[in-house]
Amino acid sequence: MTPQDRIAVTSAPISEVIAGRWSPRSFDVTVEVPEAKLTSALEAARWAASAANTQPWRFIVARRGTPEHAKIVDNLLGFNQLWAVTAAALIVNVAETVTEDGVEQRWAEYDLGQASATLALQAHKDGLHVHQMGGFDPEGMHAAFTLADHQRVVSVTALGILATPDALPDEKLRAREIAPRERKSLNEIVLVNA
Ligand SMILES: Cc1cc2nc3c(=O)[nH]c(=O)nc-3n(C[C@H](O)[C@H](O)[C@H](O)COP(=O)(O)O)c2cc1C
Repeated sequence: MTPQDRIAVTSAPISEVIAGRWSPRSFDVTVEVPEAKLTSALEAARWAASAANTQPWRFIVARRGTPEHAKIVDNLLGFNQLWAVTAAALIVNVAETVTEDGVEQRWAEYDLGQASATLALQAHKDGLHVHQMGGFDPEGMHAAFTLADHQRVVSVTALGILATPDALPDEKLRAREIAPRERKSLNEIVLVNA
């Protein structure tokens, strides 16, 4: 597999950053997260769009080797624990579902998703790789960081430096790492194109 193989084959030209972003599971366990690039990724998330500019995204950032990183790994499910433990940083993505005045933030999760996607693209542009996860124990993660009732853990992002597929500990993981990247066609996802 070459980096070129991971680039999306598109039906129309798109930005190189979007086409090149992909979600690996093999991260280099020997390399620390480059601090300036991590900050840039978080800064990019900060500048995502949100409903009425409410910015309901919150992030728990944990570098490998810290108790917080271990706590996040403990609350990942199944095979996610196996590979995500090597990521230089893990980020818990939290949505503020209610404002300080008790008003429900209807688009909190949507906005958090935009921020997470923006973070991933900035990270990719800066030579890092990101893999988002929904496979975690939501109650366990919530309790581990003593979050408030209105704070919902939506996803976890692994961020780090790419390693080769053979660094993965499991044959299934290695196969997935090099499997062709696929998408539904534009025709399938555009319901109306008047
Ligand atoms: C919300 C969300 C949850 C995901 N959960 C997991 C997960 O628990 N484990 C995993 O290995 N990948 C997970 N993924 C990664 C997707 O499987 C991956 O993004 C998808 O297959 C497309 O591949 P690509 O990102 O390389 O284009 C998740 C992605 C998102 C956005």
